[in-house]
Amino acid sequence: MNAAMSKLSVAVRKPAVKFVGKPTPVTYIGPGRAKEVGRLLGLLGAGKALVITGSYLYQSGQLEGLLDGIRKAGVEYTVFCGVQPDPTFAVADDLAKACAGCHAVVAVGGGSVIDAAKAAAAAAANHTRSAALVGVMKVRRHPLPLIAVPTTAGAGSETTLAAVISDPVTHVKRQLLDPKLVPMFAILDPELTVSLPAHTTAYTAMDALTHALEAYVSRYADAETDRQARIAIRLIVRYLPQVRENPADLEGREGLLTAAFFAGMAFTRTYVGYVHAFAHAIGGKFGVSHGLANGVLLPHIMRYYLPVCSGRFAELGRMLKLGMPGDTDEIKARRFVKLLYKLKRQMEIPARLEQFPASAIEEVIDLAFQECHGTYPVPRYFSRAHARKLMEAVCAQETS
Ligand SMILES: NC(=O)c1ccc[n+]([C@@H]2O[C@H](COP(=O)([O-])OP(=O)(O)OC[C@H]3O[C@@H](n4cnc5c(N)ncnc54)[C@H](O)[C@@H]3O)[C@@H](O)[C@H]2O)c1
Ligand SMILES: [Fe+2]
Repeated sequence: MNAAMSKLSVAVRKPAVKFVGKPTPVTYIGPGRAKEVGRLLGLLGAGKALVITGSYLYQSGQLEGLLDGIRKAGVEYTVFCGVQPDPTFAVADDLAKACAGCHAVVAVGGGSVIDAAKAAAAAAANHTRSAALVGVMKVRRHPLPLIAVPTTAGAGSETTLAAVISDPVTHVKRQLLDPKLVPMFAILDPELTVSLPAHTTAYTAMDALTHALEAYVSRYADAETDRQARIAIRLIVRYLPQVRENPADLEGREGLLTAAFFAGMAFTRTYVGYVHAFAHAIGGKFGVSHGLANGVLLPHIMRYYLPVCSGRFAELGRMLKLGMPGDTDEIKARRFVKLLYKLKRQMEIPARLEQFPASAIEEVIDLAFQECHGTYPVPRYFSRAHARKLMEAVCAQETS
């Protein structure tokens, strides 16, 4: 689809997208609050719950407080702790089977765990395979109630209407998009994110920053999503360097979790954009982590938007008090984009994605354009030549 058709398609869909109601999970924030999962299961009247998590979190003993809370609430539970990053439909279907006899699902992990749990809770309630729910509004019956406890501060899956699941054969990431997928409760407990390695903290925060910025420049942005995106951007710029200095800083960790949540609120209404489209294509094909791919691409793509977004970026520059009070919008906007490059360097995000070979550039562009064009309300379209230039700047360095 060319740029003109894409613009038309996103414009035509805008009223429908704005019309769809999007629930917000009841949210608890603060150190130690994950222990309240048991109490919430009690409120839901659940006699038995399936707890879905990753093996590291389970084996490290970090979930003991949470599981103890469930036991104290008199709720029976089983734990499934085998969810790997970028979950596949097979994993979601195994989880759906494990939901048998359960009245609620608890997801404790990053976006991968929460997405797998969302797909499983929906598949179980609808007696179908998770792949059958790919697409927009394909979930007919309400999923089992889901309590989401994020342990990364990035994806924002605890508040979005999306679940991203990978096809193990084609390596393409597919999306289930439905307001019924929004979890019923979200618990943002910074204690659970302290164990994140420095690089995962940085990559996941760059994912959240990408959500906020793609929401801010989206053609579907409105006053509410702007407010959410601005909160997220301010918190990430303030707290990410602080947490890098001191990984155990609970105030900073809570700030990043809150940022990821607000960024999730914003992009679930505005969609994402090219950064995600390229990151999904590269991540799906070459196993590059979602946040790393976003972090590498984000400053380049925002710089490409500069000619059409200088007013928007200048607003962000002013919010962050960049430069001098008398600077023109153009200067403020450039300072903001420069800040993105600086943050990337500070977080030691590489310039290139070494798993992504130059030979795959055309295929990645096809996949990204397929995902973005006609769906994502981006402010400026890429021609194939521009996209190729961008991919050449981020793919693996040629060895001669
Ligand atoms: N549903 C949505 O709206 C949405 C939005 C953005 C991204 N996504 C998807 O989410 C996935 C990425 O999620 P993510 O960035 O949160 O990463 P992730 O869930 O894949 O986790 C990254 C790594 O961190 C580890 N980890 C998680 N918490 C930890 C902790 N507290 N301590 C130590 N290690 C920990 C995990 O085991 C994993 O190895 C991708 O599949 C992406 O496509 C979904
Ligand atoms: Fe993302």
